[in-house]
Amino acid sequence: MTAKKLSRDTKHTVSVCLNGRDRQALAEPRMLLTDWLRHEIGATGTHVGCEHGVCGACTVLIDGVAQRACMTLAVQVDCRKVDTVESLASQEGQLNDLQTSFKKHHALQCGFCTAGILMSCSDWLERIKGRVPEQSEVREMLSGHLCRCTGYTPIVAAVMEVAQARYSVRNNESAQFKSNKEPFDA
Ligand code: FES
Ligand code: FES
Repeated sequence: MTAKKLSRDTKHTVSVCLNGRDRQALAEPRMLLTDWLRHEIGATGTHVGCEHGVCGACTVLIDGVAQRACMTLAVQVDCRKVDTVESLASQEGQLNDLQTSFKKHHALQCGFCTAGILMSCSDWLERIKGRVPEQSEVREMLSGHLCRCTGYTPIVAAVMEVAQARYSVRNNESAQFKSNKEPFDA
């Protein structure tokens, strides 16, 4: 595939499916995804900490995979799917299970790191579905994030609780599916 050549002095239209909605805005080739989301689109849930890939505060999902938005150019996400922390709660503002668990376990204080941590956890919980992880795995996953106020113990507790709850729901659903299916298999 030939790479598209972009003029450095021109603003280019970047089109994405952002949190399930088609959005478009202009970006110079050097503009970071963090700046584009916050300043051009107004999606300010994504935070900017170190701006060089260390703290994890800017983490978003690009095509379902957690990535640093401060290490990504806006033009790189053209025609792709981007999900930010704003995608987690319902339209009516109902927190999802992960956000609810963070609240319950006091897994945030100032909340600056939280947007990025929630997005990494969302991706990771999807990838490990079908099993309950060890605490050490949660800690390893979180090692890509810096939180300067909460401490990691409540964050680990919150993630473990969601992993266990999702595992139980999935198991119950598959048991129910099997029992519904049996009469037809006989
Ligand atoms: Fe992107 Fe710190 S702001 S990793
Ligand atoms: Fe303040 Fe993590 S809750 S930096």
